[in-house]
Amino acid sequence: MPKRARAQTGGRPGTKETIAMLGTGRLGQALGKRWAAAGHTLVYGSRTPEDERVRTLVKESGPRASATSLKEAAARADIVVFALPWKPVKDVLAALGDLTGKLIIDPMNAYPKIVEGYPYSPDNPISVGEQLQAWVPQATVVKAFNTISFRNVADPARAGGPVTIPLAGADVAAKGRVASLVSELGLEPLDTGPLIAARYLEDMLRLSVGYFIYTKGKAFEFYLRRTPG
Ligand SMILES: NC(=O)c1ccc[n+]([C@@H]2O[C@H](COP(=O)([O-])OP(=O)(O)OC[C@H]3O[C@@H](n4cnc5c(N)ncnc54)[C@H](OP(=O)(O)O)[C@@H]3O)[C@@H](O)[C@H]2O)c1
Repeated sequence: MPKRARAQTGGRPGTKETIAMLGTGRLGQALGKRWAAAGHTLVYGSRTPEDERVRTLVKESGPRASATSLKEAAARADIVVFALPWKPVKDVLAALGDLTGKLIIDPMNAYPKIVEGYPYSPDNPISVGEQLQAWVPQATVVKAFNTISFRNVADPARAGGPVTIPLAGADVAAKGRVASLVSELGLEPLDTGPLIAARYLEDMLRLSVGYFIYTKGKAFEFYLRRTPG
């Protein structure tokens, strides 16, 4: 099946995916290890794939995991997770090569400064997710996982109750495929609509970081309970 078609066919629960995890930091490790444990093939993309730290991550992710350069990882997978800081992404994209037909999962947040105790990002009126999609129109971006702490990805029980992972993006089938991956982690996907919703999802994260600063270290997770009927 052509790559473009595959990215849009949607996810059937139980489908085993090949996932490129760009970035081996806190979120990349948490998502990568759990998806690897669920039977997916993980290709970590790192600036230093030979480092002991990355080798350990690969080992902990089991027999279907490997690590390589960012470009090679993206080339090997249908699904590419940008578990990266937002700031270098424009430069990273220039080095990644062709992303045509890829399903990009975007968990990124930007909050370049703190104003009155809250993260503030006034400079770009659109979201990180929309900007990323504009830079790679040949791929399909789904905003997901930007509102949850990596600790609760690693261990959802730690959150003390259900956790919603809001999704946003233009492609309903792609969101379905991401929703399956979310559910496999014991988290609850919620399709919040087109990618413009990423503006509000990124504000949700700013709210939770602001609360963390305000309370000197207390945290919450989002649980969006759908009204019955
Ligand atoms: N931490 C969380 O709880 C959390 C939750 C939800 C969303 N997020 C979002 O997820 C993204 C990653 O967060 P994180 O906490 O995992 O960050 P992190 O721990 O700092 O890890 C980011 C990883 O990105 C790679 N990286 C860093 N600078 C880079 C550069 N200039 N070029 C290419 N790769 C670079 C590094 O991997 P290598 O060293 O292997 O190259 C690094 O380990 C952020 O946008 C954040 O807002 C984080």
